[in-house]
Order: sequence, then C-alpha cells, then structure tokens
Amino acid sequence: MYKKIQATAAWLRERMPNAPTTAIVLGTGLGQLAQRIERILSIPYSEIPNFPVSTVEGHAGELIFGRLGGKDVMAMEGRFHYYEGYTMQQVTFPVRIMYELGIKTLFVSNAAGGTNPSFKIGDLMIITDHINYMPENPLHGPNVPPGPRFPDMGEAYSKELIAKADAIAAKHGIKVQHGVYLATQGPTYETPAEYRMFARWGADAVGMSTVPEVIVAHQCGIKCFGISIITDLGGMEVPMTITHEEVLHAAAAVQPLMATIMEELVKVES
Ligand code: HPA
Repeated sequence: MYKKIQATAAWLRERMPNAPTTAIVLGTGLGQLAQRIERILSIPYSEIPNFPVSTVEGHAGELIFGRLGGKDVMAMEGRFHYYEGYTMQQVTFPVRIMYELGIKTLFVSNAAGGTNPSFKIGDLMIITDHINYMPENPLHGPNVPPGPRFPDMGEAYSKELIAKADAIAAKHGIKVQHGVYLATQGPTYETPAEYRMFARWGADAVGMSTVPEVIVAHQCGIKCFGISIITDLGGMEVPMTITHEEVLHAAAAVQPLMATIMEELVKVES
C-alpha cells in the first residue's frame, strides 16, 4: 500500500498548481463550499491512479486544487464511504495522499442525524470528539508510515481550531452546537432504539463517514476540524422516517453558514 501511496502522490505532485497546507473533505450535499473555491485544477477521481471512484448520489467525485479565502487549498468533492463496499484502506487512501502532499490541516463536513434532544434540524454541530462504531479501524493491518502503531486519540479534533471556529461563528452571528459524532457503517439509518442507545453512549449525532478519515489524519499528525449538519433527528418521542432526499434538502438549506465558517477558518489557519 505504501508504494501505491507514493506513486499516486508523485503523480499528483507533478500536476499540482499550488502547494496547499489545508485540505477539505466535502460531505453529502455539501458542494456549496466547493463553489466558493476558485478552481485552478479539478481532477476526476477516475483519472487519478489508485483512487477509488465515488458512486453515491450527491457526490461529484473530484479532487480540486484552488484558492479559498485567499489561501491555497485542496478539496475532495465527494468522499468514499465504507457502506459503498470500499475497504477502510480505500476510504482513507486520499488522506494518506494529503499527508504526502504536505497537508497540515484537514477540514471535514458531513450530514448527520441528531441524537441530542436539544438539537434542531438544520443545526451546525462542531465535532468535539467521536465514537468509532464502524466494524473496523482504518489502521487495522500493517502500520503505514509515518504514524505510530498505537496513536493517542485524546485530541482528535483540534481544540485550537474549535476555539477559532467558535469565534468566527460568534462574529457572524451563526449559532453552533458542539458534540460527539458517532460513525456507523450504514447504509441503514438508525432504528429509534439504536438512536436512543447512541444517545446514552454519549453521541450527539450519528453518521456514516468522517471517523476513518480523521483517525488516519490524526495518526499522520494532521490537525482536524469537523462540522456536522444535523439533517434529521432520531430516537425522540415522535416517530420519524428519513429519506436521502430529506437529508440533502436539510443540508442544502444550511450549507452557506457552514461554508462561511470553513472559509473564514481557512483564512486564519493556513
Ligand atoms: N444516521 C446516519 N447517517 C446519517 C443520518 C442519520 O440519521 N443523517 C444523515 N446521515
């Protein structure tokens, strides 16, 4: 795997128009931030050697190099999900590439179901910590350089970046929640009993992504910052059904606010 990582990184290094230290992973229906990026080069995943190809609706599947908030950035429009059938190594392959290309800070976004009863649909939740409830850890198997075999996970989400994001949100009058993101393998949404169980475990939101990427990034020493858009609420007294369309709709409504936080954070961070 390390050889593949090196080969793909070398291929991209030859084509990269700039030298970003910040990377962004855009989740389901969160393409608006991508539109704010002044694109210099977009490469479909299908053209990148060794890259898996994204399949799910709402995911464009392009690696973007450009400028955001006056800074060089690299962005993944569309990510790879475990439920699509990719291995954890495939899901996190792009993060390994980011490390090789010199990325120091990773911003991730996703759509998630709220399990915290005080949350509302359309809330933005800054991820303060996570619970890996996926069936596998992405570091399972031979250790890939440069990270330690047994990485500490005490501060997977940078407290410094959270504080900066809070200040930005306050300045722009954007309400943000804070909370723990729990990742399931999906693709089912949760039963009401599962939502209640996750809430008791300490989760504030549930989704099907992000945790593998953050584990690998953190192991590589990349600082991580994540925002969940709360697109639905589960496990409350009122029975609810969830559809992918509703999730996309709720994400679309609030994504300008998330994009503002991310853009301003890129300005002060990189
Ligand atoms: N559960 C899991 N993943 C999700 C949800 C949810 O409720 N909403 C959006 N992605």
